[in-house]
Amino acid sequence: LRDLDNQKRMDHIDSEGMLEATYRLVNVFANPSRFRQRLVSNGSRKDLVFVGMGGSASAGDVLLDWLSERIKVPSHMVRDFSIPRFVDAKSLVICLSYSGETKETLRAFQMARRRKCGIVGVGSGGTLERACKKFGIPFFHVEPGLVPRAALGQMVEAGARALQHARLVGSVSEELRVAGRELEGLRDKIEPSVPMTRNGAKLLAFRLKDRVPIIYVLDRMSSVARRFKNQLAENSKVVAKYESLPEACHNEVEFWTGIGKTFVPVLIRDWIENSEERLLIESFRSTITRKEKKYVEVRMRAKSSLGRVLAPILFLDYVSIYLAILKGVNPGETPRIKEYKEKFGAKI
Ligand code: PA5
Repeated sequence: LRDLDNQKRMDHIDSEGMLEATYRLVNVFANPSRFRQRLVSNGSRKDLVFVGMGGSASAGDVLLDWLSERIKVPSHMVRDFSIPRFVDAKSLVICLSYSGETKETLRAFQMARRRKCGIVGVGSGGTLERACKKFGIPFFHVEPGLVPRAALGQMVEAGARALQHARLVGSVSEELRVAGRELEGLRDKIEPSVPMTRNGAKLLAFRLKDRVPIIYVLDRMSSVARRFKNQLAENSKVVAKYESLPEACHNEVEFWTGIGKTFVPVLIRDWIENSEERLLIESFRSTITRKEKKYVEVRMRAKSSLGRVLAPILFLDYVSIYLAILKGVNPGETPRIKEYKEKFGAKI
């Protein structure tokens, strides 16, 4: 337990610096950078597709949840090595790969080129950047040297700039700055030097130890739940699952009967919910938990639409790293992802 208040022990387990990178995630929004990359606008786009995997795909999810009310064309996040049939020369395909080496994303990139789509690359370099340069495709470069999933801030900012330059959204600068201020306030309450007794992220990590979190969220914020499920797998090496609401009300409510103590429902709330949403969540919660305190509720103060998505993500990112430290596992190391990539990459 005391591991979480022992900086030396935390640094020892977290040798890849995930805590430091998470601390810095906020800085991106507090001081948005000036991307000089301009897109050569090729008329209006009939649809938008992000392609990417894992941590890079999280950035696409966040962008879609944040900007869904503003992007007027059909928009999708594709996690696959092929792009859907409807994607053609009038589509915009934004390829997200932090390393620039993810085979699935590179395959989708090639397919988008063959279909003559408008393409933009986002990442820290690698094959994706080289290919973009070679073919004169705009590339938004983010800071290199991080663990991909810890670069979420940079990837979200770069993706937002790409959407702005493609004129799919208006200026995002002010909202990036406002979200940055909101996130700073939250981070200062949950960062590693804040002791366990008043650090909500450390306390939640302790509560989730040896449990299987079943995560629920409103569908319009599903990026948050999916990110947490993935962070639990990659950082904490813990299994979890997620489902969105109201869908779970029509199936998963049934398995919460006599389910034992292993599983714990984690309800992710939005800071601003309308009365219908509140009623929906409350009906769901009281149906699956007969007694109080048998569930976890995550609700972070933020008013900007970006802050409302990123605040729970920041909080839960910290939870996943603290949980890794409690378990004594290195949150930055993902040897099996590496192994998979080597096997798949060698043969493709
Ligand atoms: O965080 C991670 O390491 C992974 O989830 C990666 O993001 C994933 O494997 C895809 O790699 P990349 O983001 O470099 O395209």
